[in-house]
Amino acid sequence: MTRKDFFAKVGFGAAVVLVPTCIGGLASSCSGEDEGSPTPAPTNVDFTLDISTGTLAVNGGFLVHSGIVVARTNTGEFLAVSASCTHQGTNVNYNASGNKFICPNHGAQFNSTGVVTQGPASSNLTQYNTQLTDATHLRVFS
Ligand code: FES
Repeated sequence: MTRKDFFAKVGFGAAVVLVPTCIGGLASSCSGEDEGSPTPAPTNVDFTLDISTGTLAVNGGFLVHSGIVVARTNTGEFLAVSASCTHQGTNVNYNASGNKFICPNHGAQFNSTGVVTQGPASSNLTQYNTQLTDATHLRVFS
């Protein structure tokens, strides 16, 4: 291999390594496009969901309704917290295996009651009450 060939291959390899790094960096620092503001936590909440079908019919499922993420744990309990991440407002997802909420944008994590366990978020999500009103209906309320 000539010196020219070596640098040609190393240069290409470095470009392959750097491109994904830069793309990954877009999510947090290369661009301001993902910057947003948290939506204020809903107030005066009182709605009922049919849990006989859809994602809440099975343990580990979750959905977002009226700005609130409602989740069913792996043990069948129901959780409800404000959906908007307190960092920049991306809706959080429920992670059933860890029984926690995770923001897909920058990785903030919140426990099952909405308390921050990992930044960059520094404020908690708002927790709401849940109550089964019968075998197939879940009430979510302030
Ligand atoms: S929006 Fe940044 S961690 Fe959620």
